[in-house]
Amino acid sequence: VDLPADLERALVDAVGAEHVRPGTEEPGACVDWTGRFVGESPAVVRPADTEQVAAVLAACSAAGATVVPQGGNTGLVGGSVPLKGEIVLSLVRLRRLDDVDRSARQVTAGAGVTLGDLQQHARAAGFAYAVDLAARDTATVGGSVATNAGGVHVLRYGDTRRQLVGVEFALSDGRVVRHLSGLEKDNTGYDLAGLFCGSEGTLGVVTAARLRLVPRRAERVAALLAFAETADALAAAQAIRDRTPDLEAAELFFDDGMRLVCEAFSLTSPFADSSAVYLLIECAADDDPTTRLGSLIEETPASDAAVAHDHDRRLALWSYRELHTSAINTVGAPHKLDVTIPLDRMPAFATEIRARIGELGPGVRVWLFGHALDGNLHVNVTGLAPDDERVEELVFPLVVSLGGSISAEHGIGTAKKRWLHLARTQTEIEVFRAIKLALDPAGILNPNVLL
Ligand code: FAD
Ligand code: MLT
Ligand code: ZN
Repeated sequence: VDLPADLERALVDAVGAEHVRPGTEEPGACVDWTGRFVGESPAVVRPADTEQVAAVLAACSAAGATVVPQGGNTGLVGGSVPLKGEIVLSLVRLRRLDDVDRSARQVTAGAGVTLGDLQQHARAAGFAYAVDLAARDTATVGGSVATNAGGVHVLRYGDTRRQLVGVEFALSDGRVVRHLSGLEKDNTGYDLAGLFCGSEGTLGVVTAARLRLVPRRAERVAALLAFAETADALAAAQAIRDRTPDLEAAELFFDDGMRLVCEAFSLTSPFADSSAVYLLIECAADDDPTTRLGSLIEETPASDAAVAHDHDRRLALWSYRELHTSAINTVGAPHKLDVTIPLDRMPAFATEIRARIGELGPGVRVWLFGHALDGNLHVNVTGLAPDDERVEELVFPLVVSLGGSISAEHGIGTAKKRWLHLARTQTEIEVFRAIKLALDPAGILNPNVLL
């Protein structure tokens, strides 16, 4: 795909020649993290600040060129890649990171700051940034706002939307909106930060965010528990949540996933015997929560438990869960469905989809894991061609019939847009289209996503 000469000149004027690169020289920007979605781009453009983002968008708008905003490119619904020859607008150089505002307990961060750097910055000031996920060292503030990322701490602190106080963004025509004052109370009309959160790059380009911080807990403990039944693991997670305010994470996975992670990364399970289901619990408090958690574990039907208080052993327990995504990629480019199911229906749902997806073909395998107390199950399927959507056809209607959602946290992207009508009414989708038309009338932003 070619870049018209006028547009190339305008982009070079906006960001400098070294930051306008042909897509052929940036193959990593044209394929998603799973390898399922591959495209091509005439140019990957990396502005350094909000003004340059605005200038790039104004140039693209004038030329009628379509644009895909991209942060860390860790998104899992194919939304961050140029599937039909779009220009990639990479935000990774927007690394503004202001001092922590201690009195407000907030910080302003540029779109390109990674979640890991933001967490580190908050910690150094005695706070924490609540949103945490395994892609923390690559995923960006802008991408996490655009997807309303969830992660492993939602049960205690909520998703990205709950942390977002204000946003700065550039519209597709290059106009910039700044609303970063961070006032906790500010009822002056539409909540644009809330609207941009989860908009998946379709309404404008997030250039900075004003984010809430939470207290930094001095002590934490992780425990990996083994169970014979999914329902027992979920009941244990609920019981622990009901008995302690310290609970920060409750993650679910299964024996096949544990084996795959161990095989892919040469790890050994902490348990001599394997079990059907595993629950990873983390508690954090100002004083050491280990004894309190120990007594709560005693009351669960766990058949085995590994408890870790020191940093390295805690991370070792986390790796069995966090390495699922990478381990599944070693089997093949997966179809990733991330669904919410009412908790009491999750065990039967897991059993049913294992059986039904298994019938799709001899090489088809299903890997389940998720954020237990959010009712969020990640249904990953390997052994299907990228465009073979039988698993989506099978799982999404079932999820909706059970009162669940077809996207718990990754968004709709390109992967699920055919099924948006299952989750949203016709009128809601008409409202979406009206908002899109008002903010991006020429439709140049992320045309393959959501609608
Ligand atoms: P990208 O992948 O670059 O982009 C994602 C979407 O946002 C695209 O539609 C893109 O166009 C748009 N976008 C990006 N930046 C901007 C911007 N500045 N302005 C406007 N639009 C923009 N997600 C979860 O919710 N929970 C998890 O637990 C979780 N764990 C993960 C673990 C691994 C190992 C991996 C690989 C991914 C995981 N994800 C998870 C998915 C992903 O990390 C998140 O969606 C993350 O928020 C994406 O950030 P990013 O910077 O990589 O965005
Ligand atoms: C997770 O919870 O690990 C993520 O959402 C990533 C994934 O679904 O693979
Ligand atoms: Zn997840």
